[in-house]
Amino acid sequence: MKALMINGSPRRGGNTSIALAEMEKVFAAEGIDVETVQVGHRDIRGCISCYKCFERGKCVFDDLVNETAPKLDEADGLVVGAPVYYGSANATVIAFLDRLFYSTGRMDKTMKVGAGIAVARRGGTSATWDELNKYFAISGIPIASGQYWNGVFGRERGEARADAEGLQQMRALARNMAFLMKSVEWGKRELGLPEKEPFERMNFIR
Ligand SMILES: Cc1cc2nc3c(=O)[nH]c(=O)nc-3n(C[C@H](O)[C@H](O)[C@H](O)COP(=O)(O)O)c2cc1C
Repeated sequence: MKALMINGSPRRGGNTSIALAEMEKVFAAEGIDVETVQVGHRDIRGCISCYKCFERGKCVFDDLVNETAPKLDEADGLVVGAPVYYGSANATVIAFLDRLFYSTGRMDKTMKVGAGIAVARRGGTSATWDELNKYFAISGIPIASGQYWNGVFGRERGEARADAEGLQQMRALARNMAFLMKSVEWGKRELGLPEKEPFERMNFIR
């Protein structure tokens, strides 16, 4: 089984990396492979609403988003970690997620398991968590939860190591997520994926 981790931070070895690494240790113990893609230091522009991805099945901007799409397709689980900037997820990770999810609209993400985590000096983690969960919630991706809010605190690079409660939360989240991923694998084998109806697009002019 595979988990894809998106690290929204621009800082290598920053607090988001520490939080994700704590989850990675649990995944390794659970026999789940992890690939991490760091996005925050990359030049990733936002969606320009050209809808070309509907025709091409990929984004017109051929960058890290298109490179990551096949990795998402292969993954059984997706973790998105974002540093909190002004009370919400940093702009680069949102630009990345908007384009990744929109341009892979035809990719069946049903029952991949998702988890969002937010990393901050002090405020905005639960709002950021809500923001990240929205990508999962409209994609048929069940959201894993832990034992408390999915947040780790720290300002300077490395400070998150002192947040024992936050790191324990990361481990609890990873254990629950691994359980869900394995349960989904079992469910797919035994029951198959839920039936899908043809999509009814909102159209009031008939
Ligand atoms: C532009 C900017 C805005 C920030 N806004 C917030 C904020 O609203 N709330 C907060 O608690 N921390 C805020 N921070 C602090 C970061 O969330 C914190 O340093 C975090 O540990 C960064 O994670 P990283 O080391 O993975 O990059 C901000 C940092 C920057 C650079």
